[in-house]
Amino acid sequence: MKFVGANKITFVTCFVLALSIYVALHGFNLHGVILSFTQDSLRNGSVSDQSDFVSKDQLYLAIDDDDEDVSRLRYDYYGVSCPFAEKIIGNAVNEIYKARPGIAPSLIRLLFHDCFIEGCDASVLLDADESQSSEKEAPPNLSLKALDVIASIKSELERTCPGVVSCADILVMSTREALALAGGPSYTLKTGRKDSLFTFKDIAERELPSPRSTLSQILASFASRGFSAQETVTLLGAHSIGITHCTFFKDRLYNFSGTDNPDPELNPGFLQELKTKCPFSASASSPSPCPDTGFAPSLSASDYHSNYGLSSENDGVIDLSFNNEGGPLNFGSRYYRRLLQNKGVMYADQQLMASEETATWVRAYSSDPLLFRRDFIKAMVKLSSYHVLTGPLGQVRTNCSKVLA
Ligand code: HEM
Repeated sequence: MKFVGANKITFVTCFVLALSIYVALHGFNLHGVILSFTQDSLRNGSVSDQSDFVSKDQLYLAIDDDDEDVSRLRYDYYGVSCPFAEKIIGNAVNEIYKARPGIAPSLIRLLFHDCFIEGCDASVLLDADESQSSEKEAPPNLSLKALDVIASIKSELERTCPGVVSCADILVMSTREALALAGGPSYTLKTGRKDSLFTFKDIAERELPSPRSTLSQILASFASRGFSAQETVTLLGAHSIGITHCTFFKDRLYNFSGTDNPDPELNPGFLQELKTKCPFSASASSPSPCPDTGFAPSLSASDYHSNYGLSSENDGVIDLSFNNEGGPLNFGSRYYRRLLQNKGVMYADQQLMASEETATWVRAYSSDPLLFRRDFIKAMVKLSSYHVLTGPLGQVRTNCSKVLA
């Protein structure tokens, strides 16, 4: 018996040793997430071009399967029913991106606004009909773009595999492709999402975070969807690409909290830069940050409308990437570096420095791009799988803006 026991101990020791060596050589396994990547190319900046970078940065993930619907998602779900679906989506996004690189940030934001409101079910794409109003009409959604990109990819897929690939899956896969093209990390995704029959305008109006939210409001609204403070900081790294209209932060430049003065937190040099791009106008005296109730904003529709602010055709814009500051490798980390210098564009952005818990992650991501990329993948995969509909719970629309009759 003793001999058997000793053998067991030896076996376990060998197994643990072998596992440690494997992990050291090939990557980590954290909370069910298996990562493997080429660290050196990122650390020593030896990446020659973006496509090279993307292929070396490929990460493979297994997401948490606790949620029953999430567990029904599968890798290569369309392997038999539409084997070229991913390829068709990839090619289409590549082509459109060449002419319109702005589709990358626009798709990422579209995904966030879809998934955050009742899950990744493409409800944000539905038009109003006689039975319901459209989520697209909710004030925070009025500045969404790239809906046409999803519609055009859907038409192409309908020609190849009619009625097979859901709009919700097209949105998550197109966003994944566009993100990689814009210098973000690349990841694998499970598919099999279904499209919703309903749209949630009131919930979108109430629950999409305002650019004037306080930290506790932001954290509460992400926490209510199962995202930790760290994951919230990670996801906001998406604000390192794309644009924001002056309307969403102009009060910080001219009339912060009704003081007739700028936000004292704003970096003085950056304040001047922003003022040049967003000159004073009457609309600059927009509302002040939401009162800090410690909860996600729960304002009436009209309050929320004025609190969020709306961009107009001739509103100025700020390039959130600051001309791709630092190159594609700095996707994410430039955002955090700017926050450390009090150069967050929106009030909500700079709020990430308002508590030690979130500021710790801002500092970590500003100095370790690889850590950010790893966490961003996990957070994007989690966001892309949030409250999905699967099986009989939804449908596969043939036109993304209309419920199937
Ligand atoms: C507190 C949470 C957030 C707030 C208040 C917020 C608010 C905003 C606002 C007001 C804009 C400017 C829109 C415009 O001017 O047209 C914007 C842009 C953007 N947001 Fe967020 N956002 C939040 C979180 C997120 C998250 C979690 C993601 C993605 C994971 C995201 C991705 C983006 C992207 C990529 C853009 C640029 C869009 C473009 O260029 O078309 N945001 N956000």
